[in-house]
Amino acid sequence: MRIDIVTIFPAFFDVLEVSLLGRARATGLLDVRVHDLRDWTHDRHRTVDDTPYGGGAGMVMKPEPWGEALDAVAAGDARPTMVFPSPAGEVFTQATARQLSTREHLVFGCGRYEGIDERVFDYAAELGEVRLLSLGDYVLNGGEVAAMAMVEAVARLIPGVVGNPDSLVEESHEDGLLEYPSYTKPSLWRDRAVPPILLSGNHGAVDAWRRGQQEERTRARRPDLLGPDD
Ligand code: ADE
Repeated sequence: MRIDIVTIFPAFFDVLEVSLLGRARATGLLDVRVHDLRDWTHDRHRTVDDTPYGGGAGMVMKPEPWGEALDAVAAGDARPTMVFPSPAGEVFTQATARQLSTREHLVFGCGRYEGIDERVFDYAAELGEVRLLSLGDYVLNGGEVAAMAMVEAVARLIPGVVGNPDSLVEESHEDGLLEYPSYTKPSLWRDRAVPPILLSGNHGAVDAWRRGQQEERTRARRPDLLGPDD
């Protein structure tokens, strides 16, 4: 998969060099390219924002550098999927991550939270699929941290990026429930024992216990994930 990231803070993405994603990049499973939006400005101050029409607080990102940036990163590609992280977008979930992991080319456009000139999204829709996606109901200073989270959630679903694919199946949000609790050795630690069922060797009983734990914690922590009959 190819991922282009357009930002005014390319240094945010230096951490992509490390860990799982660093290895995926090194082995060629992932081709990530980070671009500085200011490279598509043409004035001495490399201006990317301006005051909003109609008045109001804050600055709005100018359409011209974004238009040139999108033209450049989409060039030669059929129809990339362009993601603009935004608190005004649809909520990004594991299902969204699954959808995006099937795409060949993703473009992340990181704006500041006052926003990108709305016409940019309309123009981008001529080049490919456009998704405005929110990490959750809170406001960050810009799209960079959100893009980073989305890149990690998507990239780990690409076959080969995570070493043991079984670990992807059993985690939170894959079956609509939160993950069951996990334990490792020692079986007694600071007076706290591992639930005896996990030491029983009875796989059927372990599976049933884990399922019960998933339902219990989902009901307690995230009732919004359950239907009215659960
Ligand atoms: N930019 C600012 N806040 C954001 C959020 N909650 N999700 C995605 N992008 C954002």
